[in-house]
Amino acid sequence: MKKLIEILHIEYPIIQGGMGNISNAKLAAAISNAGGLGTIGVGTLTPDEVEHMIQELRKLTKKPFAVNLPINVNSYMKEMISLMIKFNVPVVSLSAGNPAPIIPILHENNIKVMVVTASVHHAIKAEKAGANIIVAEGFEAAGINSPYETTTMTLIPQIVDAVTIPVIAAGGIADGRGLLAAFSLGAQGVQMGTRFVATKEAPFSSDYKNKILNANDHNTIIIGRSKGQTRRVLEGDYTLSLLKNEEVYTTEQYAEATNENHHIIGAIDGNEKKGFMNSGQIAGLIHDIPTVKELLEGMMAECRKTLKNIGNLLNR
Ligand SMILES: Cc1cc2nc3c(=O)[nH]c(=O)nc-3n(C[C@H](O)[C@H](O)[C@H](O)COP(=O)(O)O)c2cc1C
Repeated sequence: MKKLIEILHIEYPIIQGGMGNISNAKLAAAISNAGGLGTIGVGTLTPDEVEHMIQELRKLTKKPFAVNLPINVNSYMKEMISLMIKFNVPVVSLSAGNPAPIIPILHENNIKVMVVTASVHHAIKAEKAGANIIVAEGFEAAGINSPYETTTMTLIPQIVDAVTIPVIAAGGIADGRGLLAAFSLGAQGVQMGTRFVATKEAPFSSDYKNKILNANDHNTIIIGRSKGQTRRVLEGDYTLSLLKNEEVYTTEQYAEATNENHHIIGAIDGNEKKGFMNSGQIAGLIHDIPTVKELLEGMMAECRKTLKNIGNLLNR
């Protein structure tokens, strides 16, 4: 099996997950420049907005980067695929929908494809459809989650055993110990969201970052179960009220209440009374706001140190 870092042409096996409409070129460039793989999130943005972001990112980095296309979330999928080809985007990550019709078009244009999945069944299907890499995302993760609710610890080794392409672990990883754990389960790298929110370069409200710093191990909640759209968010006035009342909302009202505008109000404006802040359960482990470079280098060093400590333990 080819190595993940060789497929992606990156130095460290650490990938930034797409983040709806809120992750921007500056954050993605910082991550790619630091040796990881930065990602532009397409969310519900228009092709013009995404084109502008790709152009900005290209000015900020010469390194590889990814664009995340959430298939059933964005209504301009055809135009987005054309943009990926026009700008020769090195890597596309496909989530939230059936990737099979899209993968061959991207491959014809030499674009590497990562598919985000939360089940063994979907991982096998994605490999059959031609995916180069599987991102296996457990239920600990921030944002929209699979209704299967399978955790990272259980999901990763099952997907690793079921496919023959590299697997990236996502959900619940924020430090070098998590990276080593992912390796132990058979993954070749990690994708993080929550940890990257609390970095200096992340373009989000300081209230959002501080809420992550102050979160404990049970300050995230799942909203949307009754609507078949599970999403992990930080506890706040808006999200607790959604949780309490979601069953009385119609599907349309609930979709409106959790759309990207409310994401921006929470994450960019820092207003937890009118918007939501996505976060994974790992928030309780995050106590600082490093630069992306400090974070990546620190994770790699901690991973190596932890491996050495385990070696010492085993050799006793
Ligand atoms: C603010 C935010 C927005 C997100 N939006 C998306 C998205 O648009 N598409 C997607 O595939 N994943 C999205 N995710 C999930 C991340 O890409 C990543 O897989 C996840 O955060 C990993 O789990 P962690 O938060 O425990 O690190 C989002 C995560 C965050 C924190």
